[in-house]
Amino acid sequence: MSRRPIIAGNWKMNMTRAQAEELITALKPLVKDAKAEVAICVPYTDIDVAVRLCAGSNIKVGAENVAWAEKGAFTGEISADMLLELGTEYVIIGHSERRQYFGETDASVNARLKTALAKGLKPIVCVGETLEERETDKTADVIKKQITGAFDGISADDAAKVVVAYEPVWAIGTGRTATSAQAQETIAGIRAEIAALYGAAIADGMRIQYGGSMNAKNVKELMAQPDIDGGLIGGASLKAADFSLVVNYDA
Ligand code: 13P
Repeated sequence: MSRRPIIAGNWKMNMTRAQAEELITALKPLVKDAKAEVAICVPYTDIDVAVRLCAGSNIKVGAENVAWAEKGAFTGEISADMLLELGTEYVIIGHSERRQYFGETDASVNARLKTALAKGLKPIVCVGETLEERETDKTADVIKKQITGAFDGISADDAAKVVVAYEPVWAIGTGRTATSAQAQETIAGIRAEIAALYGAAIADGMRIQYGGSMNAKNVKELMAQPDIDGGLIGGASLKAADFSLVVNYDA
């Protein structure tokens, strides 16, 4: 099955509204002919600016998290309805920085994923091992636990709508990219896990991104791997020229 690649930026906690406007204005003409699907996942405060500027372009807009609850007493959270009202299409769930710094667990990732799917947001679910887990040969077990935890109780129809991002924690923001062989091996393992849960057809159709110091230099080799269907890009998504080189990796 052919899977359309998806290259998504994750701005993290970067970009004021003024900076967002400048970046998107510069980015639009640079990526307009991209073959891959293009998305930018931006801070909540930038979403309306991003949606307005990306309207009529090939750039989709996403958020970086979503509440599991529909509404109510959840200080600091943002609901799916609030995101949808602004025109948000994608949402990152379970990024390792959320797990590491904000107590996100497989259970909370699962709850957020269920809500995103129920509301019609397109989820990008992140998994990945720490350096210690890789060095002690626990990568496969950790990923399996994160995948089964994230997808617990989710139907095959809904699972088919999910993009998974494999982001080894030790490769994020470190300049240390996983080798294409390491990324391919782990992502093939994720696809096998999805096949075990949902069958071969859902697994073959699922888009699985790599993330972690992906940039203009390494994108081609990573994207040449048979199971890698895109990238989730942090640092290299913060400059229009850098991000466009990643997006146009096959130009
Ligand atoms: P970097 O590209 O900065 O390593 O970040 C990757 C990432 O965490 C994307 O979600």
